[in-house]
Amino acid sequence: GPVVILAGGLSHERDVSLRSGRRVADALREAGIEVHVHDVDADLLRFLAESRPSLVWPVLHGASGEDGSLQDVLALTGLPTVGTGPRESRQAWTKPVAKAELLTAGLHTPDYVTLPQALFRDLGAQSVLDLIEDRLGLPLVVKPVRGGSALGVTRVERSADFPRAMVDCFAYGDTALIERAVDGVELAVSVVDGPEGLEALPPVEIVTDGAYDYDARYNPGPVEYFTPARLDPSDAAAVSDVAVRAHLALGLKHLSRTDIILDSAGVPWVLEVNVAPGMTETSLLPQAAVAAGYQLPALYRRIVEHAAV
Ligand code: DAL
Ligand code: MG
Repeated sequence: GPVVILAGGLSHERDVSLRSGRRVADALREAGIEVHVHDVDADLLRFLAESRPSLVWPVLHGASGEDGSLQDVLALTGLPTVGTGPRESRQAWTKPVAKAELLTAGLHTPDYVTLPQALFRDLGAQSVLDLIEDRLGLPLVVKPVRGGSALGVTRVERSADFPRAMVDCFAYGDTALIERAVDGVELAVSVVDGPEGLEALPPVEIVTDGAYDYDARYNPGPVEYFTPARLDPSDAAAVSDVAVRAHLALGLKHLSRTDIILDSAGVPWVLEVNVAPGMTETSLLPQAAVAAGYQLPALYRRIVEHAAV
């Protein structure tokens, strides 16, 4: 049967997923594979029953694509699936849970606290922000505990900007993750599983004037990418090793992307690990794959063949 790519869905990252899914589908077709793209809706199970796919590749970003719930349903169908399983997806998607696992694995991740909206209100917004600022210092980064593509994420330089950042964050979920901001080189390291085991693709370095926010990610122009990153070989090896260790620590499968800040002392701080990395024309995993000398059709076919066994 065909390979079914699942894309779209109803998350905040629907548009990104449609773009990612289309790119993956085009590449697989170029590799000679029959592909159907399906937007996730109430028709999904009937569609899967009728199209009898040999394999399903969810290229879904955001909640219900990365949070393990769709993976639960796919596991029930018994169909071979590309990507991380339900339990591990749920864990990676929930940033404080993933960070705790990364710390257990001996990796660095910025200090953080979580703050549910109800507690924020009950404790008095300003008094709890003061306490957090005293403990973590400034600048801080406020982000939804679950989310992607930097939606609801604000870097807070000044105390006065903190309340507004919380409001923006709570628009995307009921709990905030507040992290100490780490300055350094912003890097993304993709990992793909292949016949010879896990392979870290060349680190991508992200350089922006402003924030690496949603607009910067998906529109050409405001971001400069260096692929491979301008790192000396020992730093490049170190961050690649960190990405592989993060992938293993979180029990991920087939592909992932680990976002890292390398500080001036050479410490690689893991921000998060993505189970469904963006695959759009401006996304990082495809750029890294090309820099590694892969043709995307061949690489994606290899991922499919690997996941099918
Ligand atoms: N959440 C987006 C798609 C990414 O991590 O690339
Ligand atoms: Mg992410």
